[in-house]
Amino acid sequence: MVSCDCSARTSTTPAKGTPVTSTSATPTPEHGQLFANPDRNLAMELVRATEAAAIRATPFIGRGDKNAADGAAVDAMRKFLSTVDFAGVVVIGEGEKDEAPMLFNGEQVGNGQGPDCDIAVDPIDGTSLTAAGRQNALSVIAVADRGSMYNPKDLFYMEKIVTGPEGVGVIDLARPIGENIRALSKAKNKPVEDMVIAVLDRPRHEELINEIREAGAGTQLMLDGDVAGGINAARGTGRIDMCVGIGGTPEGIITACAIKALGGVLQGRWYPRNAEERERAIAAGHDLDAVLTQDDLVRTENTYFVATGVTDGGLCAGVRRVGNRIMTDSVVLRSRSGTVRRVTAEHLADKWL
Ligand code: FBP
Repeated sequence: MVSCDCSARTSTTPAKGTPVTSTSATPTPEHGQLFANPDRNLAMELVRATEAAAIRATPFIGRGDKNAADGAAVDAMRKFLSTVDFAGVVVIGEGEKDEAPMLFNGEQVGNGQGPDCDIAVDPIDGTSLTAAGRQNALSVIAVADRGSMYNPKDLFYMEKIVTGPEGVGVIDLARPIGENIRALSKAKNKPVEDMVIAVLDRPRHEELINEIREAGAGTQLMLDGDVAGGINAARGTGRIDMCVGIGGTPEGIITACAIKALGGVLQGRWYPRNAEERERAIAAGHDLDAVLTQDDLVRTENTYFVATGVTDGGLCAGVRRVGNRIMTDSVVLRSRSGTVRRVTAEHLADKWL
């Protein structure tokens, strides 16, 4: 089997099983190795698929129909993925939790002529945001070596905590949020009252939000889109210091791929919604008490992450049309090199819409 890394690497063991506890601070390519042996960055091709998904979703922005927006993004993503030299198997197909259009689990994507990969897709993270014309919707793909992504099957939600590299060895999801905020504040040398914690604005987070505020920090309540929230926390270039709360499992695995490229911490714990989900998860062998890291969720150091803005947000600008040109803004991450690229593109509208 050819691994997803285009240089020679052995593929990792299947993902499900014992947690590994390591938490990488920064990506560590072998010294000088990238310069000596430059190789292909698959993400540079994958970004065309998120661009296509974002562009095709734009006619649906603010039109109140999230499934139509998602459907257009799914079709475009699938089409463009079929042009890329790789043999991808969808391990994380978004949409199952709400029966939206999706690239389904087990679907083979790519033209089959390249490295064997696992792929996690979220053609639109923020379908409701898109339908409402709100900010922060992204089109997202994450790729890793075949067999490396945790397959959560019927577990649709997880508790998550995400920070930048300062949180390595400092953050622990099992501890109360106030302790984590104080610990990160110390590690960042930033007063607690200046700390900003991103949380999805959901009734289930009422207590968490109170605890954050009681600890002295501020919240940034997100309507949707915790992939962007997690990445913004890890990058530390905006206001957000930490992203916490219960969100989608697909988004958790996708964020783990990005964190492996950016450095930082992602910890997660499965969150079954009801007794039936809990029993099914236990029967399938999931440890519901375990705190999993990005290294448990994606067991390789070879990951790619691409995101294109659908609507404007803290990570990427949304798609915009100027005359006959459509502008897209994307981020392209690769763990092996630790590269963070911003890709802005202009597309001829006639060819697209
Ligand atoms: P969708 O684009 O599928 O609607 O997901 C948006 C999102 O906000 C994710 O970013 C997040 O992980 C999840 O939904 C949270 O789920 P819920 O809306 O059920 O609380």
